[in-house]
Amino acid sequence: MIEFKNIGKIYNNSVNVLKDINLSIDNGEYVCIIGRSGSGKTTLAKLMTAEEKPTSGVITIDDWDITKIKKKDIPSLRRQIAVIFQDFRLLPKKTAKENISFACEISGDFGSKMNSKIDQLLQVVGLGDKSKNYPFELSGGEQQRVAIARALAFNPSILIADEPTGNLDSINTEGILTLLQDINNMGTTVILITHDKEIVNSLNKRIITIEDGRIASDRVNGKYLI
Ligand SMILES: Nc1ncnc2c1ncn2[C@@H]1O[C@H](COP(=O)(O)OP(=O)(O)O)[C@@H](O)[C@H]1O
Ligand SMILES: [Mg+2]
Repeated sequence: MIEFKNIGKIYNNSVNVLKDINLSIDNGEYVCIIGRSGSGKTTLAKLMTAEEKPTSGVITIDDWDITKIKKKDIPSLRRQIAVIFQDFRLLPKKTAKENISFACEISGDFGSKMNSKIDQLLQVVGLGDKSKNYPFELSGGEQQRVAIARALAFNPSILIADEPTGNLDSINTEGILTLLQDINNMGTTVILITHDKEIVNSLNKRIITIEDGRIASDRVNGKYLI
């Protein structure tokens, strides 16, 4: 379980981005976080991966207080919480397979074990036939699938998707949303961050709305009304 208790975040002693955030997300949940651009969504994600520290409050992940995390423990947190982004962030000079193998090696898999894991990951994301393609030879939707496969290489318990469909057309968006649901069905907690109310309204999930750095609403099977 992820818990935010009285979280505040002020950047550079001046920009008050998050204010008194209290939130808990259960293991295996699928949660949407929606809010306008600049409302603090990405900051919320960065606090969960310890890329940023809160100015006040405590964040726990399965009773682990990550606000006090030591530098040496950050890699183990990042194996537990994977993130995918709007701009995919693939290594441009590496093939789909190499982009994933890079992550497998970090997670300690080599040789034939790694190869079969990559094949399996490519199957999961529906890219079995594109393993040798470079990012520039893949559509946006396919690149995002590679990024998802790479994220799954660590067997994370939580996947944060920060505007994962922001660069995709509607058909690829649908494909990625289906894949996120499949991943959630396999037991991974999914946190989908978006500014797109059509997407969240189509999913029928718990919706947390962020406005000006505060939780404006938190609804189960919600619709985003504003
Ligand atoms: N590293 C930073 N330093 C200063 N201000 C930042 C930093 N990162 C984000 N901000 C500011 O915090 C606010 C929220 O940003 P962000 O969390 O990225 O929002 P969102 O993802 O909802 O668009 C914005 O006003 C942004 O300019
Ligand atoms: Mg953002």
